[in-house]
Amino acid sequence: MTQAGTIASDHNQVTAGQGRMLQLEIFRFNPADPNSQPHMQVFELEETPGMTLFIALSLIREEQDPSLQFDFVCRAGICGSCGMLIDGRPALACRTLTQSLGSCVRLAPLPIFELIGDLSVNTGKWMRGMSERLQTWVPIPADVDLDSLEQPMEPQLAEQIYELERCIECGCCVSGCGTAIMHEQFVGAVGLNKIARFRLDPRDGRSDADYFELIGTDEGIFGCMSLMGCQDVCPKNLPLQTQLAFLRRKMLIAGVTD
Ligand code: SF4
Ligand code: SF4
Ligand code: FES
Repeated sequence: MTQAGTIASDHNQVTAGQGRMLQLEIFRFNPADPNSQPHMQVFELEETPGMTLFIALSLIREEQDPSLQFDFVCRAGICGSCGMLIDGRPALACRTLTQSLGSCVRLAPLPIFELIGDLSVNTGKWMRGMSERLQTWVPIPADVDLDSLEQPMEPQLAEQIYELERCIECGCCVSGCGTAIMHEQFVGAVGLNKIARFRLDPRDGRSDADYFELIGTDEGIFGCMSLMGCQDVCPKNLPLQTQLAFLRRKMLIAGVTD
């Protein structure tokens, strides 16, 4: 039986207030350095109450190795910069408490994305490419009247759009997706979720036939194998399963009636 004040973890037990020694095994590689070879490097540090992986990595960079590369901006699960493989699972470093992990943790960069160095990947470049291919914006007609009044939107519809708009483009769903690993051009759950979002938007005049042109392929909705790795790892708990199934049905109909 666990005693009061004691935290049980997979690998060991610690008394609250007494720091465990953590071992962080971190992927190291600098593609810009011809002498750099991919390898794992182990760092040790003492756990402190409320420590997140972001805090642990920052301490390592400050106190042990200033060359360690990883990304962060907001430290609050908002910017989507700090996605990485934590014990093999895509997640945000700033939202992962070390006490939720064992005392030995393996960290690696998100696969699929271009590696900048160590744990840092270029999700922005991937997201921009996906966004341009899917045209993830509201098309504005050439004769738009810039002086016209904004049109009100039903609060319920605005809520539905907002629910899907919560995506922070962290890339976790792409890195956790078997199809994305096999098909370089697959737009991922993040791209399909964006189409679902714009499809709801009354300012977006595109029809399902137009959306079919964008995602009615194996690099779009028909490449998805519906295994839902994306929803399992999405740190914002977006309803990807529902959206992808709905979109598949709509695109099947659009493909048949086209
Ligand atoms: S459900 Fe589709 S998008 Fe999500 S992880 Fe599986 S193949 Fe990828
Ligand atoms: S859908 Fe979820 S996992 Fe995918 S990029 Fe958006 S927030 Fe990240
Ligand atoms: S630092 Fe912004 S999401 Fe983690």
